Amino acid sequence: MSLVLDIQGLSVAYNRKGLALEDVHMQVPKGGIVALLGANGAGKTTLIRAVTGLLDLHHGHITAGQVRLSGQIVSGLPAHRLVRLGMGQVPEGRLVFKHLSVEDNLRVGAAVLPRAQVQDGLDAVYHLFPRLLERRQQAAGWMSGGEQQMLALGRAMIAKPKLLLVDELSLGLAPLIVRDIYKQLLVIGETLGTAMLVVEQNANLALSFAQSAYLLKQGRVVLSGSAAEVAANPLMKSSYLGEAKAAGESTP
Ligand SMILES: Nc1ncnc2c1ncn2[C@@H]1O[C@H](COP(=O)(O)OP(=O)(O)OP(=O)(O)O)[C@@H](O)[C@H]1O
Ligand SMILES: [Mg+2]
Repeated sequence: MSLVLDIQGLSVAYNRKGLALEDVHMQVPKGGIVALLGANGAGKTTLIRAVTGLLDLHHGHITAGQVRLSGQIVSGLPAHRLVRLGMGQVPEGRLVFKHLSVEDNLRVGAAVLPRAQVQDGLDAVYHLFPRLLERRQQAAGWMSGGEQQMLALGRAMIAKPKLLLVDELSLGLAPLIVRDIYKQLLVIGETLGTAMLVVEQNANLALSFAQSAYLLKQGRVVLSGSAAEVAANPLMKSSYLGEAKAAGESTP
């Protein structure tokens, strides 16, 4: 099996606090979709930061282990290098450039493309998200949450990444919009052959489209396997779904 992402024994700490991740092993195969699950504070975003080279920004650092992208060790490389190597991300909280137009946001994502391919990239995003075409001259900050999430996804896919890391796409969005955006995410995976690691609070939703899944608890992988195996494991209900239900989350 050819791996796009291979994480071996990864540990991460912030400042002088204890470990936020401890000895994490995780694999994403070429073209595969893997769900990363866990309750609030389990370390999901930290793992994505470690993989995408953004730990520094948050005063965190890798204390052990390594990350490989298509076989190449990439832990420690800065984020802009990783983008050129084929890593894309839709960060927690979307983080679109609110004062830039929709199209300029997409052009930022397209900065790694040769000039001649930029228009094709824009066309591909607009084809997938017609709403963005309608709003292409509008400031991103004026759009709805769902539209901003489409933009964050478009900005990430325009560079045709081989690995896309998606953090809480559904946060604060209505269930219908969430379904719609996830459908487009699957289309991206199929058309570009992009592999994905998807963080999602709604475990049932994530397990419905991912092939495999990992469950994090207090910085450690406590469960991994095929989506069906993970869904059926009692640990899932006790350590995660239980908490999600207690927090009032509804499942589709
Ligand atoms: N910048 C930071 N400085 C210090 N500690 C941090 C920082 N960011 C996260 N942490 C700590 O690391 C742990 C993991 O946090 P992380 O944000 O990765 O969790 P998460 O699984 O993404 O949670 P959520 O579902 O709430 O987004 C938590 O204990 C958190 O308090
Ligand atoms: Mg998070």
